[in-house]
Amino acid sequence: MSGAVQLSMFGEAESIDTLDARLWHGSFNARESSFHQLSPYVGKLKSGMVRVLIRLYSKPGDSILDPFSGSGVVPLEAVLAGREALANDLSPYAYTLTRGKLEAPGNEKQALEQARSVIEKVEEEASHEDVTHVPEWVREFFHPQTLPEIVAAFRILKKEEEFFLTACLLGILHHQRPGFLSYPASHLVPYLRRTKYPPEEYPGMYLYRDLRSRLLAKVQRAYRNPAFTDDWASREYRVWQTNAMKLPIEDGTIDTIISSPPYFGALDYARDNRLRLWFLGCDKWKALDASLTASQKVYLPQMATCLKEMDRVLKLGGYCVLVLGDVERDGKSRRTAEILGELAVEVSEGRFVVETIYNDLIPDERRSRRRTRTTKFERVLVMRKR
Ligand SMILES: C[S@@+](CC[C@H](N)C(=O)[O-])C[C@H]1O[C@@H](n2cnc3c(N)ncnc32)[C@H](O)[C@@H]1O
Repeated sequence: MSGAVQLSMFGEAESIDTLDARLWHGSFNARESSFHQLSPYVGKLKSGMVRVLIRLYSKPGDSILDPFSGSGVVPLEAVLAGREALANDLSPYAYTLTRGKLEAPGNEKQALEQARSVIEKVEEEASHEDVTHVPEWVREFFHPQTLPEIVAAFRILKKEEEFFLTACLLGILHHQRPGFLSYPASHLVPYLRRTKYPPEEYPGMYLYRDLRSRLLAKVQRAYRNPAFTDDWASREYRVWQTNAMKLPIEDGTIDTIISSPPYFGALDYARDNRLRLWFLGCDKWKALDASLTASQKVYLPQMATCLKEMDRVLKLGGYCVLVLGDVERDGKSRRTAEILGELAVEVSEGRFVVETIYNDLIPDERRSRRRTRTTKFERVLVMRKR
């Protein structure tokens, strides 16, 4: 990154005084907490950008709310930076992943002990696990001996309310690599890859895959670089799974809102996570997608209600920072940040003031390749409540 500003795993002392996309460009995989990589999520924010936003728009001890937390990038960065994290998402997958990251044990030894204890129960119970309710489209991803182990593991983890290990398990559910539980499949969105890896040519990829070694290896990968601070044990957070149109938060209590709301139904959060959702007990992904703020028809009225909620819960003087992408429709580009900025001013009766819309015009190649309906640029809408 010659000539650009390096963003290290910084402490509070490192001064950042302006929004500058050079601070978060490039790969963050080696520079971020490995908890960010527990399980993939479409539309995930870059942790480097979130770190900058947290430092610019809040101070240590502040409460930071993300009403659309997705995989939990904002809440995790918030607690790592000594802020209180408040997170919400309507999707059970997002809720589990966010809670999983925030509830991670304080060290690898403890996490491995918990994993071993769950695995022992799974191994005792898997041979008589009832899998008759598993639909064919789910079954076809797994070896018949692996499936009961997975079903038993999710059942036990749910009963024990073990969100961190559930998030780890979700992260190894499907992929083509040997460390994953499925037959060869894609990682982000679940598609079997039988054409690329025919069973006759790649029989080794269609054998039984034990849960024990894979889950333990996943937990170890998670602790490669958790980027803990001494504050981890005293971190403060709350997580909800509800509609952002009605948040269980008192008026005027939040210092800062940092979020990336959905934009004009550009991504299908439930459809893309249908296999993970099924194991979390959500077998109607279409119904979930319909209840998310997605389709063009409901987008603006629902976002108006969400922005009203953000105005209600935010303290006077607090920042509301929304990361949004433009959406291409019928050859036209919709500038979501400008549209939502105007809407926020309107629904808050002028309490929200748009301070800036920062255009990050450096394309994120990794992201643009797999997104079809969004453009490759991101905009940061910065508003303040006056
Ligand atoms: C752009 S994603 C957030 C990504 C997240 N910032 C991250 O880094 O992973 C938008 C999220 O909004 C959630 N969502 C959509 N409509 C919602 C609603 N009405 N209430 C709560 N969550 C909603 C989706 O489930 C999705 O996780």
